[in-house]
Amino acid sequence: MKKIDKVLKKYDYKSSRIIQILNEIQEIQNYLPKHVLEYVSRQLKLPLSSIYSIATFYSAFSLKPRGKHLVTVCMGTACHVRGAPAVLNRLEEKLKIKSGDTTVDNRFTLKTVNCLGACALAPIVVVDDEYHGQTTVNKVDQLVQNYEKD
Ligand code: FES
Repeated sequence: MKKIDKVLKKYDYKSSRIIQILNEIQEIQNYLPKHVLEYVSRQLKLPLSSIYSIATFYSAFSLKPRGKHLVTVCMGTACHVRGAPAVLNRLEEKLKIKSGDTTVDNRFTLKTVNCLGACALAPIVVVDDEYHGQTTVNKVDQLVQNYEKD
């Protein structure tokens, strides 16, 4: 728990900084493991239920291990009408997982969101922090291939 202690110390063990703390923990662990959240709860004297409600409220946080690359498909209205469901289907087919899951080799995690606020680029797929606008079913294979290499 050395790295976690370092994060807690950085934020002075202040429960008001819980979002920043969880953010940094997720960067270290790639997700928010249960035993770590229990530890944070004890250290900050903050109820575990409060930590869980924050961790589940923000879609950036994950309680399950994530793959190296996070693939996010926007399913908001604009993206939906411009073909996002077909793009999602192709991604599920290609990665052999359903939305919310991680590939067996831990390379990709697939998830959906509702509107990324860039509807003009619909349909959008975000891989890690990179936005791929006007993604079509035909572009999916190439997109996955690009991230399979690193
Ligand atoms: S609906 Fe996809 S970015 Fe707005």
